[in-house]
Amino acid sequence: MFFDRPDSGEISLLVNLHIDNDRDADDIVEFEELALSAGAQPVAIISGSRRQPSPSYFVGEGKLEELKAAVAAHKAEVVLFNHSLSPSQERNLERELKCRVIDRTGLILDIFAQRARSYEGKLQVELAQLQHMSSRLKRGWTHLDRQKGGIGMRGAGETQLEMDQRIIAQRIKSINKALVKVRTQRDQGRRSRRRAEVPTVSLVGYTNAGKSSLFNRLTRAQTYAADQLFATLDSTLRKVELPNFGQAIMADTVGFISHLPHQLVEAFRATLEETVQADLLLHVIDAAHDSHPEFIFEVESVLAEIGAQEVPQLQVFNKIDLLPGREPELQRNSAGKPHRVWISAKTGAGIETLLEAVSELLAGEMSDQLLRVAPSEARLRSKLYAANYVENEEITDDGHYLLRVRMPLQEFDRIKQQTGVAIEGVRQTAE
Ligand code: GTP
Repeated sequence: MFFDRPDSGEISLLVNLHIDNDRDADDIVEFEELALSAGAQPVAIISGSRRQPSPSYFVGEGKLEELKAAVAAHKAEVVLFNHSLSPSQERNLERELKCRVIDRTGLILDIFAQRARSYEGKLQVELAQLQHMSSRLKRGWTHLDRQKGGIGMRGAGETQLEMDQRIIAQRIKSINKALVKVRTQRDQGRRSRRRAEVPTVSLVGYTNAGKSSLFNRLTRAQTYAADQLFATLDSTLRKVELPNFGQAIMADTVGFISHLPHQLVEAFRATLEETVQADLLLHVIDAAHDSHPEFIFEVESVLAEIGAQEVPQLQVFNKIDLLPGREPELQRNSAGKPHRVWISAKTGAGIETLLEAVSELLAGEMSDQLLRVAPSEARLRSKLYAANYVENEEITDDGHYLLRVRMPLQEFDRIKQQTGVAIEGVRQTAE
């Protein structure tokens, strides 16, 4: 791998400054969890505040001295910043502190690199790493240039730096090409799922909410669940059997995190796209976490950004085993639809209720339709019969079928799209 990754257990100092207009700094707990997730061993947190970062070291001179002393006192091997650093700030800090310095983006990338499982996920992470690295590459070689006075660095009209940048650019190009191919294959997979009329349910939620645990319980599959952030990177798909409904596909997705560095968002497009395509979202929430209302807000904003706010959603308040007196419960909204379920993925409490709520939501609103189907569309007619949707049939004088059907609205749209027929004379009757 191109990326220089810390080995687990590296003695780490965490730096978290309160900077005006920088919300990252408020997330000290998450930052610590990120460091642990990366396998670091945090020994101290250096905090403080600044109106704005210093251009050369990010921190001020006083804080730099404090950092130097702390690095020496703790024998720190790496200093982690809960902020984005410019390549030159990183270089200056490394020179002064005499140890490795990693910024927030580098830290998150490292975690992603450890968690990527699928081919696509790995490609996306490598792409993000290469892009992050290409801006930092200069620094390594300018170091060397200075140390070696540039001798041996210049070849036939091309410096090592230019050569490396060219190699990286080529690799980025070939990854992008591979990604286009994988995405096309994935889209085809999704289309065939559509054709098979199996609805998809995506588990979304803040990181560590318990998505993988719930996914495992629902699908009895052995995916990786650990007390770490980002146990999941790529969508994991499994079939489940729902009571009174039939089959559905469950999709586990990567956890949302607050203030995901901008350049990393693209790395997770596949997972997010899967979310938009779902028929139902299970928004898993760690009900035992004090900040869960903010987390819900964060997830909702990201869903809105990717255009998934229209997908029906069920809130799953998880970890009720940690809330004394809280029993499994289904809450409905003012329209009488399942809105919120209280469960424990760990103990299994409320799982049956959750599955029933999912079935109910997937069945959707039943609507009565009167369809006028041309004789040539016999396939559609037999499909409707096969699904048990036809309540009554008449044949008109001109040989058309007049079918009175009762079916979920969503299912109706799906069939319409799949068969590709123009259905004449659709008249929607009231519920
Ligand atoms: P990411 O993949 O990082 O987004 O996390 P996730 O949302 O998939 O969470 P995961 O299932 O990995 O669970 C995170 C931690 O919460 C693990 O330590 C789980 O054992 C724990 N956990 C999950 N569900 C429950 C629950 O119902 N009760 C309790 N007490 N702990 C739970």
